[in-house]
Amino acid sequence: MTKKLAALKGMRDILPYDIGKWRYAEEAARKLFANFGYAEIRTPILEETALFTRSIGEGTEIVQKQMFSFKDRGERDIALRPEGTAPVVRAYLENGLDMKMPICKLFYIGPMFRSERPQAGRSRQFYQIGVESIGFNSPQADVDVIAVMMKLFEACSLEDAELNINSLGCEKDKKHFEQILKEALAADVKRLCEDCKKRYDKNILRIFDCKNETCRAVLHAAPKVAEHLCPECRMHFEKVREGLTAVGIKYRVEPFLVRGLDYYTGTVFEVTHKNLGSQDAVAAGGRYDGLIQELGGEPTPACGFAVGLDRLMLAAADRIKPQETRIEVFLALLGEEADKLGIKLLKELRGKGVLCETCFGAKSLKSQMRLADRLKVKRVLIIGEDEIAKDIAVLRDMDTKEQKEIKLKDAADTHLW
Ligand code: HAM
Repeated sequence: MTKKLAALKGMRDILPYDIGKWRYAEEAARKLFANFGYAEIRTPILEETALFTRSIGEGTEIVQKQMFSFKDRGERDIALRPEGTAPVVRAYLENGLDMKMPICKLFYIGPMFRSERPQAGRSRQFYQIGVESIGFNSPQADVDVIAVMMKLFEACSLEDAELNINSLGCEKDKKHFEQILKEALAADVKRLCEDCKKRYDKNILRIFDCKNETCRAVLHAAPKVAEHLCPECRMHFEKVREGLTAVGIKYRVEPFLVRGLDYYTGTVFEVTHKNLGSQDAVAAGGRYDGLIQELGGEPTPACGFAVGLDRLMLAAADRIKPQETRIEVFLALLGEEADKLGIKLLKELRGKGVLCETCFGAKSLKSQMRLADRLKVKRVLIIGEDEIAKDIAVLRDMDTKEQKEIKLKDAADTHLW
């Protein structure tokens, strides 16, 4: 027998019987984003690799180990996007959106790619729903971004999602803190894993992303970034916290939250949920006030987040109840003449917006009634040779089991049903 092909490792199909829940979340997001003033943007899935090395950072796990990057036929270095923020900023700059949009608040829904070891809640193709709010420096803008994210969790019955926040401070603060951390960890460098030894020299903040137990133990007593902020950044963080409280959003300050992407400055946050296992971050984001300049634009503050849709589905699977659409009428057709009548009836019914289904070429009425049962249709319209001879159709209500005859010419007159 010919060998069947399977999806690639870490990639999967989202099947028709699950799609209702995905669409429920996507539609809830679209509604909320419209309400909060976000416009949709769709960026390409492939980008120049340099976009990600320059934004996410050379020394990060994503760039070093997880990017699907390769050379195209023209020997150009390209990559499947591992995240949405850098492409959105590239599109913002390339299309001069700052001049074209009075307010630049953007959202996206789509697949991202990271070559990670697959496990529950972690795949190589996954989906994000994200927003990027560009141009606002105020701490209340951070609160507004977090507010729309938390509303989305509420809409998906995940009111118990937990928000953790921290602040990394401005670029200057980050540099200053890196020095403090270097000094504090100097005596323990030899205990760190090989990767972290390199990180210690090149990009010390990334040590916080390490899952190695010894590294984590070393970091347990490490200095906390939010305790070393300049007065301006300390004040900004304080106002974000006050703002969150003012709009009734519960949060916890997580002093070791630094996020695995280099572009963050100031507020960073992560949302976790108890239904998830070790991969418990269902969303994450923060401020990235230096990125737009880093990618060639004017200094412009910005803040955003991305919800991992796959993880949202895992956490909320039993709670999301999409509305089921029921087939209004199933045409049980028997014989070629009935099929011919059926195709005309379908056209007429669909033209009226009636949800209808049939099974052309069926061998028996019994099998069609069984199929109609499995499809949980509301009613069946039976047309066989006998019915055609009598110029009628038999209409059976599948809930009450009542049957009545209607004239064939009136079969699509739904008010007679
Ligand atoms: P991130 O933390 O790398 O941030 O990803 C955001 C979310 O995407 C995670 O919290 C998780 O739910 C989901 N996610 C990430 N990797 C995987 C994976 N391999 N499998 C399944 N889900 C995954 C970003 O991507 C930033 N661009 C977020 C952002 C937007 N910051 C500012 N604006």
